Parts: sequence; C-alpha cells; structure tokens
Amino acid sequence: MSTRCFTMLKPGVLNRRLVGEVVSRLEKKGLKLIGLKLMNISQDLASQHYAEHKGKAFYDPLLDYITSGSVVAMVWQGDDCVTLVRKITGATNPAEAAPGTIRGDFCCHTSHNIIHASDSDESAEREIALFFKPEELVDWEDQAGIWY
Ligand code: PPS
Repeated sequence: MSTRCFTMLKPGVLNRRLVGEVVSRLEKKGLKLIGLKLMNISQDLASQHYAEHKGKAFYDPLLDYITSGSVVAMVWQGDDCVTLVRKITGATNPAEAAPGTIRGDFCCHTSHNIIHASDSDESAEREIALFFKPEELVDWEDQAGIWY
C-alpha cells in the first residue's frame, strides 16, 4: 500500500553540499518525492515536532541543533515508504548505522545525525501536517513507478 514518510535534512547538510546525494539515494530506490522545501525551523515548530522527547537529556541539544541553520523538509511516497526510507537512512546512532546507509556514510555522532525520518505511518502523517500545507504536496503522475 502506498504510504508517505516525512524526512528532514538537518542543519549542515546544505553547507556540506550533500542535499543532492541524499535525495539521489531515495530517488534511486524508486520512492516518489511529492514535497520539498528549504526552511528555518522556529522554536515552536521544533518543540511540536520533537514533543515526544520533551524531558529527555538530549531534548534541549536536539532543539538547539535543529534550529541552528536551514533544513530541507521532504515528503516521500511509495509502498511501505517509512520502512524503506528508514533502511536507507540507517540506525539513529551513526556508530551503529551500516556503511552504505546515509547516517552510516555521512556522520559520526547521534547529536548530528544529518537526517530525520518518520518512525511510523502515524508519525509520518503528524509530521507532514506540521511542516506542509496540503497544497504544497504534489502527487504527480508516476509513469516509472511500475518498474520498481
Ligand atoms: S528515543 O528516546 O529512543 O526515542 O530517542 P532516539 O530515537 O534515539 O532519538 C530521538 C531523536 O533525538 C535525537 N538525539 C539527539 N540529538 C541531539 N543530541 C543527542 N545526544 C541526541 N540523542 C538522540 C535523535 O537523532 C533523534 O532525532 P531524529 O531527528 O529522529 O534523528
């Protein structure tokens, strides 16, 4: 069943010129990009996005990091999208992320793990609604999708 996944390239990815590399990996898998925007995250949006982690030791550093620079917010669509995206992003801790995954290849510390990806279909829909208006998503006709 076709589902959606929210992903966010965290501060530093634009600076490191890695946007194309990361987008390319998700595209080549066969996932369909239906939403994309550069933005700066307000404190309010950051606290809503990471609400479930409020009170944890890493909460304040996480909010500081995510609001420290521009990010790239994206919505991907495809069959079993969350599972596929999270396989490609790799484990949260880059030290445990397999080589060949995005976190396994491009970062060293959990505190700067370069990409966020929704962890369930429910989280994906909640996060998409936080970051995108419905009219900002384009479910374009996908002629290539049948080949993946
Ligand atoms: S938990 O408690 O198991 O749900 O947490 P976890 O899934 O490991 O991490 C949740 C998000 O917090 C980020 N994180 C951190 N950020 C900054 N500093 C530290 N030390 C830190 N530890 C965890 C982690 O990258 C997750 O963010 P996302 O955006 O989902 O990758």
